[in-house]
Amino acid sequence: ATGTITIPVVVNVIYRTATENISDAQIASQISVLNEDFNATNSDFSKTPSVFTSVAANVGIHFTLSKVVRKYANKRSWRTNNDMKKSAKGGIDATDPANNLNIWVVNDMGGILGYAQFPGGAAATDGVVVAQRYFGRTGTATAPFNLGRTATHEVGHWVNLRHIWGDATCGNDQVGDTPSHNAANYGCPSFPHYSTCAGSPVEMTMNYMDYTDDACMYMFSNGQKSRMLAVFATGGPRASFAD
Ligand code: ARG
Ligand code: ZN
Ligand code: CA
Repeated sequence: ATGTITIPVVVNVIYRTATENISDAQIASQISVLNEDFNATNSDFSKTPSVFTSVAANVGIHFTLSKVVRKYANKRSWRTNNDMKKSAKGGIDATDPANNLNIWVVNDMGGILGYAQFPGGAAATDGVVVAQRYFGRTGTATAPFNLGRTATHEVGHWVNLRHIWGDATCGNDQVGDTPSHNAANYGCPSFPHYSTCAGSPVEMTMNYMDYTDDACMYMFSNGQKSRMLAVFATGGPRASFAD
């Protein structure tokens, strides 16, 4: 093991209209965002408030574009039932999920920006799904979700991160250095936003695993980094990606 984690990415584009058949440039912009956000080279990383700078992480996961697969489907909207991952349902079958992160880019999922499969699930459906309006930072990407952070958030789930509020009121995200959050935050909260959970901590609303706008999320924590890297360790559910 070299200690380097590089994730080959297969982008599966399923479109009905020419506009939805997003450009190679839009796809490249998303790969750039993933590399920036998972290596703390994003231009907004320096906005991290001083109370959190000691826990702000350079996760150290790299992404390379392996290939792009494109397919027409006569479908205006998809659901979160994994049909886009099945050729028999009009979708595209995953490419070698043990060695590639498959991302499906669909035209629309109603109000859903994206969703992910956690480690340990079925290989055929492994990966993340993002609607094209929320993918990358050029082309059809639409504000306030036009900086590629939906994929950053979903890839966070793909490497085992929970939502920062633990999907419950003052819930547990299984990460020690992230504060308790009352609930999901939306929009662009002003700082500091105090939790009413035990101890009234300042919430880490700028964490990628909250639900704020793309421009208002710009960091993972060291505790999240440990949890992510654990999936690549020997015996871990994504050990096949580590070299
Ligand atoms: N799974 C979330 C949803 O579909 C994604 C949230 C992404 N947030 C963002 N700022 N891009 O609502
Ligand atoms: Zn999520
Ligand atoms: Ca926590």
